[in-house]
Amino acid sequence: MKIIRSTSYEHMSQKATDYLIHRMCQSGPVNIGLATGNTPIGMYRFLNQYIKLGFDISNVHFYNIDEYYGLSEDHPGSCAYYLKKMFYHPSSVAASHIHRLYGENIREIEREIQERGGLDTVVLGIGRNGHIAYNEPSTPFNSETHILSITVESKIQHSKDFGGIVAVPEQAVTIGIKTIMHAKHVLLMVNGAEKAQILKKVLAGPVTEEVPASILKVHPDVTVIADKEALE
Ligand code: PGA
Repeated sequence: MKIIRSTSYEHMSQKATDYLIHRMCQSGPVNIGLATGNTPIGMYRFLNQYIKLGFDISNVHFYNIDEYYGLSEDHPGSCAYYLKKMFYHPSSVAASHIHRLYGENIREIEREIQERGGLDTVVLGIGRNGHIAYNEPSTPFNSETHILSITVESKIQHSKDFGGIVAVPEQAVTIGIKTIMHAKHVLLMVNGAEKAQILKKVLAGPVTEEVPASILKVHPDVTVIADKEALE
């Protein structure tokens, strides 16, 4: 695991952008899994700037790595809406290169990812309870793309996106831990003091299904870009 310490949110976002630009520069098709949430907003902003300046992404396919189950892509709380607004629309990503995840296509997405040679890179944030994509604590490490029940901690964490806890959907869809572990490269972005405790558990604690992100320690190519508050 390579850890890059950033001095600020802006700096973390720049480092993450550099990382992803390098991954997307390869010749031939590249499959990238994308996270939502507050953490990568700055990275999408920088990526949009590069792409507007002419950086070519016509070889890249993007996979939404999680979604609230049952929400349409036009629902402002959905991950599809977020990615459309933050990245796909400003960067004019071709519709045929956007791979949305929703409850009904979990098998197809898993198969499609495998058939297209797997994910080159998956970009992750981390939940306060250690979830990655939407793999909540106790998710088996050998899980593929699946539907799950959202924990109370995650509902609290994301309640603002829905105007209150009771409006957060009960279930989500996520690529599995196994799907993440099969990606060639993993980028984990972490910022803010509120993530310090869980990041410490991931870095210094045991590899356990109770802390889904802890499995990343056994992946051969993980880069963590974290700000100093998260690394306290
Ligand atoms: P955040 O969410 O980026 O909004 O903190 C991350 C997550 O819950 O995975």
